[in-house]
Amino acid sequence: MKNRDRLRIAIQKSGRLSDQSQDLLSKCGLKFRSSRDKLFCFGESLPIDLLLVRDDDIPGLIEQGVCDLGVVGRNVLREQELSVRARGEAPLFGELRALGFGRCRLSIAIPQELEYEGVAQLSGLRIATSYPSLLGDWLRENQVDARTVVLSGSVEIAPRLGTADAICDLVSSGATLVANQLKEAAILLESEAVLAGASVTPDDERGELLELLLRRLDGVLQVRE
Ligand code: PRP
Ligand code: ZN
Ligand code: MG
Repeated sequence: MKNRDRLRIAIQKSGRLSDQSQDLLSKCGLKFRSSRDKLFCFGESLPIDLLLVRDDDIPGLIEQGVCDLGVVGRNVLREQELSVRARGEAPLFGELRALGFGRCRLSIAIPQELEYEGVAQLSGLRIATSYPSLLGDWLRENQVDARTVVLSGSVEIAPRLGTADAICDLVSSGATLVANQLKEAAILLESEAVLAGASVTPDDERGELLELLLRRLDGVLQVRE
């Protein structure tokens, strides 16, 4: 990766985390020349630029050294961390700070009419999810022998379509579960937006910028508590 003298932060282009991600960065004193119609925003107050991308791409962009930091859900970060480990490699990215917004949980949900009696009940079921690594890990830990059906979206509809018996997806208000006649059975992960970064701090100007940004961020987060 070519050496850069400016720091780059990736955030979600559009979605549940985008507004609050932008808001947090501006509270840290960062100002950018253009806004969300452009995918690259030049930092005016500090040599820190912004990249607007799909949240799922953020860990990979950090891993490739395209970005130094990213604001992403812990669920996405952990999922990709586990899938890197499953390849026998060590992830080059990790969680630097929990940001306190975008709270949700990754849960198993089952049809409303079923009584939930514990994890053993999930054995033999087909569980639809966009988080196969997190689900697989949890199933192994709980010694449940279930089949994972990977879907990239609209996971909640799978039981009604008959393609799965249960789901493992994010729950925030719970409205999507209710709308699909499902109920939460077990929580796998408590999630929120986090600041992700490379496991190794760059030892050039970017390292110092990163320190500065983290100090400002910690100040902002402390006031919010
Ligand atoms: C997320 C998640 C659930 C829903 C949960 O989907 O995958 O489907 O939100 O929120 P609720 O409990 O408040 O209803 P999102 O709408 O972000 O779209 P996606 O699944 O396409 O990412
Ligand atoms: Zn996404
Ligand atoms: Mg969804």
